[in-house]
Amino acid sequence: MIQLAPSILSADFSQLGQQVRCIEEGGAHLIHVDVMDGHFVPNISFGAAVMKSLTGRTGLPFDVHLMIEKPDDYLEDFITPQTEYITVHQEACVHLHRTLQHIRAAGAKAGVSINPATPLCMLDEVLEEADLILIMSVNPGFGGQKMIPSALHKIEELKRRREERGLSYRIEIDGGVNLDNIARVAQAGTDIIVAGSAAFGAEDIAGRVRDLIRCAQVNG
Ligand code: DX5
Ligand code: ZN
Repeated sequence: MIQLAPSILSADFSQLGQQVRCIEEGGAHLIHVDVMDGHFVPNISFGAAVMKSLTGRTGLPFDVHLMIEKPDDYLEDFITPQTEYITVHQEACVHLHRTLQHIRAAGAKAGVSINPATPLCMLDEVLEEADLILIMSVNPGFGGQKMIPSALHKIEELKRRREERGLSYRIEIDGGVNLDNIARVAQAGTDIIVAGSAAFGAEDIAGRVRDLIRCAQVNG
């Protein structure tokens, strides 16, 4: 079943605890945690302390998306009993295979992401080491951007390769998903859909989360 992972990057940080409860009430499956360092991407968001402040406020698992250089140096900071996935960028990892093994050894599921300009073949040698492949459908750094449609071809192709090679990674999309395009995203074969502005930009956050999930699941 398709899962929704609202990104707290688009939340009102002054009311983060309350807004996270709204997405939980709407039926969200994961909390997407966008960590940006101002080097790998041209923006700074927040670090592990903000994520950890949500422990106890919500039972939803954390889906951590590290848009940072040298992610190996910070992995352990993001390990909590609620951490499900830690995703690093292929473009930020000199020894990607080792980094994915490091994430699993630290106790989380290992995710790897590629930017819109990076071809899928860059992941060929690490598909066995990954529990999650995150396809960026915008250039990372900011919420509220328009989806780059070529991401959907990557998702279809990843699904094909998973069957062909008998693998079991989950496929996630991140960037520009909204009520108008989520059906198409679901049809492409996505397992986990990130929604930032589409979820937290709504007046009724729980209601919007419910609508996004319904629309994804009837089309997936
Ligand atoms: C972009 C982040 C995304 C972003 C999604 O760098 O990784 O998770 O917050 O936001 P929307 O859904 O508004 O594109
Ligand atoms: Zn993200």
